[in-house]
Amino acid sequence: MLTLGGAGGIILFMTSGFYYALCGLVAGGLYFLRNWSQGKRCEVFARLDGKIVVITGGNTGIGKETALALSRLGAKVIIGSRNVDKSKKVAQEIQDETGSQVIALELDLASFESVQKFATEILSKHSGDAIHILINNAGVMFIPEERTKDGNEKQIQVNHLGHFLLTKCLMPKLLKAKPARIVNISSLAHTWTSDLNVDDLNLEMEGYGQIKAYAKSKLANILFTKELDRRYKDLEVYSYAVHPGTVATEISSHIENKFPEWFNKSVGEFFKQFFLKTSEMGAQTSIHCAIQPDPRLLSGSYFADCRVSQPSKAALNETTQKNSLDKK
Ligand SMILES: NC(=O)c1ccc[n+]([C@@H]2O[C@H](COP(=O)([O-])OP(=O)(O)OC[C@H]3O[C@@H](n4cnc5c(N)ncnc54)[C@H](OP(=O)(O)O)[C@@H]3O)[C@@H](O)[C@H]2O)c1
Repeated sequence: MLTLGGAGGIILFMTSGFYYALCGLVAGGLYFLRNWSQGKRCEVFARLDGKIVVITGGNTGIGKETALALSRLGAKVIIGSRNVDKSKKVAQEIQDETGSQVIALELDLASFESVQKFATEILSKHSGDAIHILINNAGVMFIPEERTKDGNEKQIQVNHLGHFLLTKCLMPKLLKAKPARIVNISSLAHTWTSDLNVDDLNLEMEGYGQIKAYAKSKLANILFTKELDRRYKDLEVYSYAVHPGTVATEISSHIENKFPEWFNKSVGEFFKQFFLKTSEMGAQTSIHCAIQPDPRLLSGSYFADCRVSQPSKAALNETTQKNSLDKK
């Protein structure tokens, strides 16, 4: 009886020990996974007192965290997106925390008229003598096919053409900053397409695909960056393209809408918690490019995880780079 009881006790101890060990291993693994998936934090420090920063899409996600970080460094930050009420609330929150001025203006990148109005308002009322940093961050992803009122496929206009026009409008004051920086938020998704036909941005000849259109718009961001670098580096306007990582933000709402709510709340949440970056960590590479100490040396580069990375072969095509600025 005693022997049997002892054996039972040992088995119980061993099995519960095994389960404890297993639980510990799983918890440790998840902890490691969560930390590893966050990527690198920007380790550069600089003050931005007296500097003017313009960020598109600064009311949520990566843009909001970028705005907060640069505001903490003392910059006056101007954010632009469609939902002005939300932007004003966020601007006030940031301003209350940092003590630096944050201005929220209306901007719809799907309308060239709105982009021009946004730029005019900045140039005439909010930017003083110069704009020091422009962060072309706003974006949409995998949306159903739609034409803007300017006649363009919506992802290419919001993610690239709208930013192209904004950059052009703000260039006179970027040129006055000496030095100024332009940070274009691209994506690893640029590697999902092998080329960008600037004569078929609406994909009428090639055929539309939600993923394809997004990939091409993100490839356009890098081509644009490289051509900006070629044309403006000697005038002390430096340009960078950024892949922020895979970040848990509202941008995935078009994918989430395809799944039932219970799935998003369970599997989706688990995936976000352990495999995706937080918005704060997703903003680190944009922040790094905005303040890293050697702007000229690294101008024209594509960054991921706060260091220079190699973009796709298509992004290095010099003819397409030139066309990305000329054929508009
Ligand atoms: N999240 C990721 O995993 C990931 C990965 C690679 C690259 N990126 C890129 O990172 C950038 C930021 O994305 P996010 O993840 O932070 O997305 P998000 O949370 O959805 O934020 C997008 C921002 O863009 C603004 N926006 C959307 N459409 C606009 C329009 N037509 N005109 C002006 N502003 C507009 C939104 O504000 P309103 O709705 O008020 O306009 C919002 O502030 C995008 O360029 C995206 O392609 C993201």
